[in-house]
Amino acid sequence: MKKTFIVANWKSNMTTLEANNWLQEISNFQFPISNKEIIVCPPFTLLWDIRSYLSKHNFPIKIGAQDVSPFDQGAYTGEINGKQLKEFVEFVIVGHSERRINFNEDNNILEEKVEMARKYSILPIFCIQDKNTQIPKSVEVVAYEPVFAIGTGTPDTPENAEQVAKYVKENARIKTVLYGGSVTPKNVKKFTQVSTIDGVLVGGASLYAQEFLAIIKNA
Ligand code: PGA
Repeated sequence: MKKTFIVANWKSNMTTLEANNWLQEISNFQFPISNKEIIVCPPFTLLWDIRSYLSKHNFPIKIGAQDVSPFDQGAYTGEINGKQLKEFVEFVIVGHSERRINFNEDNNILEEKVEMARKYSILPIFCIQDKNTQIPKSVEVVAYEPVFAIGTGTPDTPENAEQVAKYVKENARIKTVLYGGSVTPKNVKKFTQVSTIDGVLVGGASLYAQEFLAIIKNA
């Protein structure tokens, strides 16, 4: 059975206490999730706590990172590399517009990050901003995230998202396309019911356990 991806991107938010409260709230869910692939992408500082909590409670959520070093281990002060991440995560977000804009990440760096993730068997969730964004060759999962829709409360239309998803599936041979940008419990179904859209990447709404649960339920 094909699963619908629901990915939480916490960005630079959450302390250990806040994350712990979130996990406790979310583990009270009461509905079937076997048809959903739920992935939470916390900041690096929370990877240990989250992995421990999830494995202790045998909870069906997978973990992703929000970044990976373009370099392997070595003298790269401040970087977290793929080998280190592999101890905690199965996924990593690469190419988010916030990193392209605020940290000047260009196509070359993004390609190196994708390669480093693949080297350590971490699946990159590669963000594209429109249908013409360059996608590195080994990418399998893409998230279409138009900049105007991120954190603005103004999502793209499901029709536009469908067009982009169709285009990248046909032209870049991508298997899985997610939509991201102002996804809420109210609008999530409009995206996930589109046959070419395989799930959603959720920023702001994923910080609130009840909202995220409602998104999972309604997707
Ligand atoms: P948003 O962010 O849901 O807050 O719009 C999405 C994202 O940037 O991944």
